[in-house]
Amino acid sequence: MDKILILDFGSQYTMLIARRIRELSVYSEIHPFNMPVEEIKRFNPKGIILSGGPASVYDEGAPTVSLDLFAMGVPVLGICYGMQLITHVMGGKVEASDKREYGFARVKVDQEDPLFSDIDDFVRDGEISVWMSHSDRIEVLPGGFVSIGKTENTPFAAMRSGRGDIYGVQFHPEVVHTPAGIKILENFVTKICGAARDWTVGSFIDQSIEKIREKVGEGKVILGLSGGVDSSVAAVLIHRAVGDRLHCIFVNNGLLRKNEAEEVISVFRDSIGLNLIYADASERFLDALKGVTDPERKRKIIGETFIRVFEEEAEKLGQVEFLAQGTLYPDVIESVSFKGPSATIKTHHNVGGLPERMNLKLIEPLRELFKDEVRRVGRELGVPEKILTRHPFPGPGLAVRIIGEVTKESLEILRQADAIVEEEIRKAGLYESIWQAFAVLLPVKTVGVMGDERTYENVVAVRAVHSLDGMTADWVELPYGVLKTISNRIINEVRGVNRVVYDISSKPPSTIEWE
Ligand code: XMP
Repeated sequence: MDKILILDFGSQYTMLIARRIRELSVYSEIHPFNMPVEEIKRFNPKGIILSGGPASVYDEGAPTVSLDLFAMGVPVLGICYGMQLITHVMGGKVEASDKREYGFARVKVDQEDPLFSDIDDFVRDGEISVWMSHSDRIEVLPGGFVSIGKTENTPFAAMRSGRGDIYGVQFHPEVVHTPAGIKILENFVTKICGAARDWTVGSFIDQSIEKIREKVGEGKVILGLSGGVDSSVAAVLIHRAVGDRLHCIFVNNGLLRKNEAEEVISVFRDSIGLNLIYADASERFLDALKGVTDPERKRKIIGETFIRVFEEEAEKLGQVEFLAQGTLYPDVIESVSFKGPSATIKTHHNVGGLPERMNLKLIEPLRELFKDEVRRVGRELGVPEKILTRHPFPGPGLAVRIIGEVTKESLEILRQADAIVEEEIRKAGLYESIWQAFAVLLPVKTVGVMGDERTYENVVAVRAVHSLDGMTADWVELPYGVLKTISNRIINEVRGVNRVVYDISSKPPSTIEWE
């Protein structure tokens, strides 16, 4: 399989570069900028992309690359900081500047160059629209390089080496604000690097199955199945590879949504035929949570109880060698990048400490994939759409949506209210365009009237947010009609609730969950 290596210099767009290239059906991986050249040679890329980054090549300790990188005979494309770095290390001149060029710009590009071939559709008056975000500028190109793009501000918005194997662009081809960007990346990857477009969902599945079989041999694998997208797709993929030697453990922590346990069992055991162990530990979790009101203590108790239950179930299986997890690529990059996004979504299903204690080897078949790729793999493997498009649900479940103590009664109220929110959002055709929508039970009683009687009951807050990755989020402008139905139904159908409010806070400064 042909691969493109992306060296990360800390740009907020690095992950986008990888995604764009994979969208072209070419496999790409992100590694830190200081990956040793020997290791790069072993990786054997068809091409290398140097990402943008926040530094200036003149900063003390600015991330850099060795000249050896350019002597490997592998085509290189530098984007923004990557272009300045090529210029700097290859003997050109970059001028430090405090003045930032940010936003749309027009570039006159050399359409004779392979990098800019077939972009007629995007050219107006001889120019293309691009997205810029830089402050330093290139004053002198390295020896032998020629300019292949200029703007009003600079004669060096794009460059090419004399041999035609090293390229630089000052703008960001990976963002949607550069409409010709995907074509430019395609030109680099296919025309200049000559990479074959053979990275497909089908080829990924075949290769994964082979790798898993090789690794597992005749061994046994356990996996904590939550019914969420990642663990579900991982389970079905591994099941394809090793069949019933995969043992999925589904723990009911008593904090699940309405009918969730039944659905997980029916889909995975009955329809898909996984070897599923159902551990109903609801009472145990609820006992452990008795009297606990602090959110972080709740999380800790739930996490610890989960590990204990999981471990007990695993021990019943006798000798197990492997633990499978649905770790995704963003989590992997997070831990290796020069300067990645500030926080990740953690799930307590990633059973911390367990591999060491039980002496298990990890299997993470999705660790090279982005979320949308996982969904595509799941689809190809026949995982039901309902599972693949399910909203994210926190590991500690409804416990972090009940403010204060979690009891059987409060769970019952919240479960019903939450089910109504989901039902109405689905009915309105909004479910798949929303990141998360749910109900929260507040420890507040307010006065109401029902019939001729005065009531004194609970408040339910409804929350619906748009988000791309859970790191930032904004509340959804749900149509009034939908809000009205949700409110009417909750107040009429859920005993113990007489008031519904809508959460109109964005993250930051709020969070998505209330606890
Ligand atoms: P917040 O509330 O931090 O949530 O804005 C961001 C995303 O993470 C989910 N979330 C959790 N997931 N364990 C999890 O597995 C947790 O303790 C947890 N807390 C929040 C939340 O649902 C949202 O998608």
